[in-house]
Amino acid sequence: MSSGLKAALPSIMVDVTQMTDPAARIAELRRRIDDANYRYYVLDDPSIPDIEYDRLMRELEALEAAHPEFADATSPTQRVGNTPSPKFESVKHNVEMLSLGNAFTDEEVQDFVDRIEKETGDAAPVFSVEPKLDGLAISLRYENGVFVRGATRGDGSSGEDVTANLRTIKAIPLHLRSADGVEMPTVLDVRGEVFMPKAAFDKYNAWALANGEKMLANPRNGAAGSLRQLDPRITAKRPLSFYAYSLGEAEGMPAEIKTHSQMLAWLRDLGLPVSPEARTARGVDGVLAFYRDLGARRDALPYDIDGSVYKLDRYDQQRAMGFVSRAPRWALAHKYPAQEEMTVVEAIDVQVGRTGALTPVARLKPVQVAGVVVTNATLHNADQIARLDVRVGDAVIVRRAGDVIPEVVRIIDDERPRDASGEPLHPPYALPTECPVCGSTVEREEGEVVARCTGGLFCAAQRKQALIHFASRRAMDIEGLGDRIIDDLVEFGYVKTVADLYALKLEDFLEMKRRADERENTTPETVKAGKIASKWAENLLDSIESSKNPSLDRLLYGLGIMDIGESTAKSIAKSFGRLEWVRRADAILFLAVPDIGATVAKSVSAFFREAHNEAVLDQLLARGVVPKEVGSPSVGFINNFNFNFFIDAIKKINSSPSRVYLFGVGPKAIGDLEKKCSSIEDIFALSGVDIKESGWDDEAVDQFLGVIQDYDWRGRLNRAFDLVSDMRRVSPANNPDGPLFGKKIVLTGDLKFITRDALKERLEELGATVVASVSKKTDFVIAGDAAGAKLSKAKELGIKIIEKDNLIVFLNANSD
Ligand code: IVH
Repeated sequence: MSSGLKAALPSIMVDVTQMTDPAARIAELRRRIDDANYRYYVLDDPSIPDIEYDRLMRELEALEAAHPEFADATSPTQRVGNTPSPKFESVKHNVEMLSLGNAFTDEEVQDFVDRIEKETGDAAPVFSVEPKLDGLAISLRYENGVFVRGATRGDGSSGEDVTANLRTIKAIPLHLRSADGVEMPTVLDVRGEVFMPKAAFDKYNAWALANGEKMLANPRNGAAGSLRQLDPRITAKRPLSFYAYSLGEAEGMPAEIKTHSQMLAWLRDLGLPVSPEARTARGVDGVLAFYRDLGARRDALPYDIDGSVYKLDRYDQQRAMGFVSRAPRWALAHKYPAQEEMTVVEAIDVQVGRTGALTPVARLKPVQVAGVVVTNATLHNADQIARLDVRVGDAVIVRRAGDVIPEVVRIIDDERPRDASGEPLHPPYALPTECPVCGSTVEREEGEVVARCTGGLFCAAQRKQALIHFASRRAMDIEGLGDRIIDDLVEFGYVKTVADLYALKLEDFLEMKRRADERENTTPETVKAGKIASKWAENLLDSIESSKNPSLDRLLYGLGIMDIGESTAKSIAKSFGRLEWVRRADAILFLAVPDIGATVAKSVSAFFREAHNEAVLDQLLARGVVPKEVGSPSVGFINNFNFNFFIDAIKKINSSPSRVYLFGVGPKAIGDLEKKCSSIEDIFALSGVDIKESGWDDEAVDQFLGVIQDYDWRGRLNRAFDLVSDMRRVSPANNPDGPLFGKKIVLTGDLKFITRDALKERLEELGATVVASVSKKTDFVIAGDAAGAKLSKAKELGIKIIEKDNLIVFLNANSD
């Protein structure tokens, strides 16, 4: 039977949609939600999709809110309380929570089993074998099936009351199941482990890394820290889980239960999750086989384990073995190699990835971690280094789990090397400001986690990636230039940058092929016989040759600039119309391109500012790669550049998450200031008094002066204004040769067949200026359907009106 079909059964048996009695519906919803939890956590066989589960919860919450008389503390809606406790009360454990003896070698396990065989007289004793979960031991007390209290292990005889936090863990039932034939104990003190699944741990850390929060060192710390939260709402956000593995006090346990494994099965029937890995094994061979099997699967398990636990299964035999100090003589924890070790940071290096991302790496004094020698560990990024405050010479804990890259989880502060006066020997580590591979500038946007090398066209670390992207179909479309050939071209040193592709000769390809064949020992017999195939290389050279005149947007896309996808490349190409202008543009000018915000504007201009990239671009042009371009900026783009735009753009480019430029002034104050300036020099000459006179408040005045009096900003603005005026000179907008030059036109009403923007653009190309309101100076009003006040005013003033039906005639008559 599929789980989908099983899931459908409860609703067939009870058609809940027909129930109108709220008490019955509430009971039914609670039963179905509890059942879904049981299926998910205990049977490991989910029965309903998350979305259905959420729907049931919402319905139950709504019904309970409408009927407070049916409130019940064990309802699934009652997991997250909202009253943080000031501290945790101490709880005494009626039956002490014991610990386990440890074994690290097969011999120690052999000794343990030998002892049991000798003392029980059983030549092949049966053990319950289980994973040793790496979490936190807790006790859960159920009275008449209801969860009443949960506590940490503490010192074994008393712990802390963490009931409110434990209630948030969905794997822990708020009441036990009363299934047929399963006796409900009057008192049950279940012991088990609370743990954080690896996926939840990774998800939490990814979030913490991106948000500048402290990362969890490992899942066990995650579980412990979460349970220690005084506010259960915080615990509820950290998905913890639970497996039961032993009992303390128990009243009303069925008399037939005579072994540990039977007891675990009973717990499962009561709705308590037990590790699905738990089973029985006979003798020393059995337990060791389990140890090896589980060890081999350790990395693939969804939670961390640090050993296997062997428990003599028969209760009578357990009694015979008894206890030493605080550990049973009938149980043993057989440990796996630790995943965390201590070592020393000898140096901190930086690696540059294929996308230019800089990753700091700790070079370590070699140390064995979980059976592998570790010499490097990732430090992720600058934020993580700052949080750990890791420095050269520090003693650190490194962690390695499975195939995951080893990482430094924390430093050991006491062991930091210091000089005689107690000052640390090494300063805090800072990422380099220049790429360690190519020397280009490293940029890190504020609020971004990753720092990047901006030398995308030049940097050796990014070389292959840059070439593959450049040659790809949607970029320069160099047919036949695939990953393999690019690999060889780079590896044998024929190309370093995309520009080098255009200097390749037939001999280069043939020589490269010969070397690649030699390296792989695949030199064909024909070649050995002196016949060299060259058609493929000729074809490749042809493809390279015919890629020389791409559209500007394809070339821009092909450069592999961070954040520039195809559609942004198209927008940039259409807006500027010339590569030369794109290269000259300051970040603020990119803000006038549709859909480009401050981050992208900065990264595009940083790319073109980087001298190494400039050199590669110059070389591309020199080798005949010339984009097809319109040659003039788009009208919509060029019309953006008014005073208001610059004020706004400076504000956007200057602001960062930590510092916001407000220029908190309205359009009138900006307009008044604009009137004072007829040139860029006028702007730079503005004094505080001039600005204040225009109605700017003191803070805004200071911020504005800060920009126009800043040396860098003045240079940037000068260059930006220069570029805009160059672009204007060839812009078809307000074209002085246009037949409508000097005419002021107002558009009003619905023009049906043409959008207002398109019409505006067309009119501007013809030299006209489209203005918003009708005045005596207006030359024409173009009126569509349902034109209102503007039309009446135009009639009043006797201005020429062009009806929508005459528009085409008008445009044709005025076309050049
Ligand atoms: S049984 C009487 N079973 O190991 C035996 N303990 O060193 C009591 N642990 O504090 C413990 N997985 O935190 C038992 N399957 C397992 C376990 C387990 C993990 C932990 C537990 C306990 C410690 C004992």
